[in-house]
Amino acid sequence: MAEIRESMENIFVTGGTDGIGRAVALDALHRGHQVVVVGSTDAKGEAFLAAAGAAGAADRAVFLRADLRLVSENSRILDAVRARFDRVDRLVLCAQRYHTRLGHTDEGLEQNFALSYLSRFVLSYGLLAQLKRAERPLVLNVCGTGTPAGRVHWDDPQFTSSRRGGFRALLQAARATDLLGVAFARRPDTVGVPIVLHNPDVVRTNLQRELSQPWRLLALTTLALRGVSVEVGVVPLLEVLADPPSDRISAYRGRDRVDMAAPRYATGYDPADAVRLHELTARLLTGLGRADLLPA
Ligand SMILES: NC(=O)c1ccc[n+]([C@@H]2O[C@H](COP(=O)([O-])OP(=O)(O)OC[C@H]3O[C@@H](n4cnc5c(N)ncnc54)[C@H](OP(=O)(O)O)[C@@H]3O)[C@@H](O)[C@H]2O)c1
Repeated sequence: MAEIRESMENIFVTGGTDGIGRAVALDALHRGHQVVVVGSTDAKGEAFLAAAGAAGAADRAVFLRADLRLVSENSRILDAVRARFDRVDRLVLCAQRYHTRLGHTDEGLEQNFALSYLSRFVLSYGLLAQLKRAERPLVLNVCGTGTPAGRVHWDDPQFTSSRRGGFRALLQAARATDLLGVAFARRPDTVGVPIVLHNPDVVRTNLQRELSQPWRLLALTTLALRGVSVEVGVVPLLEVLADPPSDRISAYRGRDRVDMAAPRYATGYDPADAVRLHELTARLLTGLGRADLLPA
């Protein structure tokens, strides 16, 4: 690839070994930036490093293997990224797996909540100091924003009772990650660090293949009818990364800006729910003995 010379940025991409995150990471290398990616399987990480090497960017690419469902692993990754980057220009959150069979991590957390929400919470706040050192930082939270589906089950957020299944847990995690954005953007200590919630819409990646039936059939049919390639689907995200909005929070579905205040969507971005979830998370991390991962 012909390299585009820009001033070198430090880019950290979770889920940067496959799909949309990988495309973001490779594009950043192409632009001459330094990139750290995280994924949970070595083979995908090695394939990413091989692609970086083939592009002449081996010295600017790092792969870290971690299971980001675990708070302990997020903490280890935070240490590794802080050791490598004094400044983080772009935090791109793409690590995702659709767990539609209810399951819990070794730390006792519902696994969708752990991966789609708590990991993003820990990394966003944990890298705040590094983001603030960047001239024009951005947190890009790639998620399913712009849909009214899903709610936080306040009575049992870790789904410890068997009354509710994995699909509801998946939807809860999607709502929680939207609320993370709302809470993040309202804190005085995040001024100057905009957060974008970005739903790439229907992009042909491996993600939907993890769903159990009947969701898998539905998702694969939607992909066949409406899905675009990763090369096409990633373009709106690359545009946002190249020129971040100045608003403290914004949401996009593909190229379209989501009106977060519209009656159809507003309850999903409710500031009171965002504060409530933040407080719940503070209790959760404190209960796990990890109050050190909370913002001051
Ligand atoms: N594709 C779509 O149509 C679509 C639609 C709406 C939203 N999105 C959002 O776009 C983002 C990227 O999705 P994608 O479609 O690119 O998915 P993908 O191709 O399946 O990639 C997911 C990435 O996450 C990593 N990952 C999964 N579980 C992990 C774990 N426990 N720890 C660390 N890394 C983990 C995967 O690596 P390993 O497999 O090695 O763990 C991979 O690098 C997600 O946030 C998703 O919600 C996608």
